[in-house]
Amino acid sequence: MKYAIIGGTGVYSLGGNVKEVSLETPYGIIDFSIMEKDDKEIIFLPRHGKDHSRPPHLVNYLGNMWALKEYGVEFVFSTVAVGSTRSDIVPGDLVLLRDFLDFTKSRPMTFYDGSSGVVHVSMKEPYCSMLCDKILKTINLRDDTIYVCTEGPRFETAAEISFYRQIGGDVVGMTNVPEVVLAKELSMCYCAVGVVTNMCTGLVNVEATGSEIIAIVKDRKEELTNLFVDIILKGDLVTDACSCRSSLIRV
Ligand code: HPA
Repeated sequence: MKYAIIGGTGVYSLGGNVKEVSLETPYGIIDFSIMEKDDKEIIFLPRHGKDHSRPPHLVNYLGNMWALKEYGVEFVFSTVAVGSTRSDIVPGDLVLLRDFLDFTKSRPMTFYDGSSGVVHVSMKEPYCSMLCDKILKTINLRDDTIYVCTEGPRFETAAEISFYRQIGGDVVGMTNVPEVVLAKELSMCYCAVGVVTNMCTGLVNVEATGSEIIAIVKDRKEELTNLFVDIILKGDLVTDACSCRSSLIRV
């Protein structure tokens, strides 16, 4: 079985037997590292590219997810940096994403561009229920968090954040859509944990700096990677306990 961990600011690797791979996809070359442990291959994919050069609106979402599928990955664990719209979710918190509101504007959104007929993908369970259950059994996290995806790279205005809060958004980030959707289009199990790096615009007087945001992500990254690796190494992830392999609707 093959597993993937996707991260934002570089991906922490557990060391040991790590191999670097560059995989050619129809969307460009994707670089990732592979760690082998207990007969399992764990892929570490840096979402923004290995030199962290792609801003959120220019991440190669299609290439990244295609590469994982082509390599044979069944289960994807993702981490995303988020700002909080609520006073009871604060910097340093981890939140399990359960649903999303999409406010992106200009990104390639789908593998189904019409060349293979009209295909819809169900969003009843955007995040794999089996993987979410495994995470909740391992760590105590908020499990009803609704993620708002904005286009970036600019941050939001205070009015936008007030609106997102009113329509139910708990945290705001720039990278989980279309990643979560593309995973479903490729029938992979996908889950995402948000690392809260700041309070959103308008909620505090002093805005977080770039280095403060990066410091929080780095601080939680090792812990999160270890959590994902522990879940993977238990070896009890299955493909028939969720709806991820039956979410495509052809019309
Ligand atoms: N807004 C959007 N994306 C983010 C934020 C935010 O406040 N924090 C981290 N990623």
